[in-house]
Amino acid sequence: MISKENKEIKIVHSSGNSVVINKLGATITSFKDAHQKEHLFLSNKLIPGKAIRGGIPIAFPVFGKPPTSGAYSDLPQHGYARISEWTYDETPVMDNDDGVSVRFILDSPPKLPPARLVYTVTLTAHQLTSTLHVKNTSSTDVLPFQALLHTYYAGNPNEVGVKGLNGVRYSDKTTGGETRIESNDVVYANKNTDSVYMNTTDEIHLTNGIKIRKHNLPDTVIWNPSEGAKSMADMHEGGWNEFICVEPGHVRDFYDLVPGKEWIGFQVITI
Ligand code: BG6
Repeated sequence: MISKENKEIKIVHSSGNSVVINKLGATITSFKDAHQKEHLFLSNKLIPGKAIRGGIPIAFPVFGKPPTSGAYSDLPQHGYARISEWTYDETPVMDNDDGVSVRFILDSPPKLPPARLVYTVTLTAHQLTSTLHVKNTSSTDVLPFQALLHTYYAGNPNEVGVKGLNGVRYSDKTTGGETRIESNDVVYANKNTDSVYMNTTDEIHLTNGIKIRKHNLPDTVIWNPSEGAKSMADMHEGGWNEFICVEPGHVRDFYDLVPGKEWIGFQVITI
């Protein structure tokens, strides 16, 4: 079942799972299982019109600060996708016992390399799939982009960690991007953590049983600013003790999409 209220689209699967997506950024803000347990973190202190602090915002076409020169240099951190109002495409995609699926569309703002983004969100009995399609709508120029699904999982960062990163190289943004090699079997973000793991496996497990499968998103960012979040206007007191961000993306470099072609990246979250 699909329902719409103001800027929010809610989808409910016959299993009892549900998802809410806000047209601002096509940000998934809630993913509840059949027992009404919430799997995504959302701040209680959202600032209207600003990127949504929590859920699954989309970073596109840049990850983090934009390059200092070139077509994207004036973009805000993480680009325009998460602060733009997407169009909800009401053409039914799927709504039956197999799954419920909705689609959102966003065209790049004027004066930037032209792109059309299509984002589909599909809910089944045990899985939430979010798929980003990027189409280069130029017939002459390459479209460079980074893309990332900035997923905030609900849970105490002392308890919910990420498995499978031992031995993987990462760039530690808390120390200016130093490259290190992970040496822990489970990575927790229970202190100031901002790590860009490179070329991670396409299946990642959290210690709470959640499984993430990703495609065309080779990198994985683990982030939690810990008490550094006190200076964030949109984070409630203590909010940093309620999540771990595990963010699949193509962020180590820019992907160059040739004119007229499409790129697809997705993640499947299995609960
Ligand atoms: C992470 C980045 O993906 O997002 C961090 O690696 C950044 O460096 C964090 O601080 C949050 O960004 P923002 O713009 O939502 O505060």
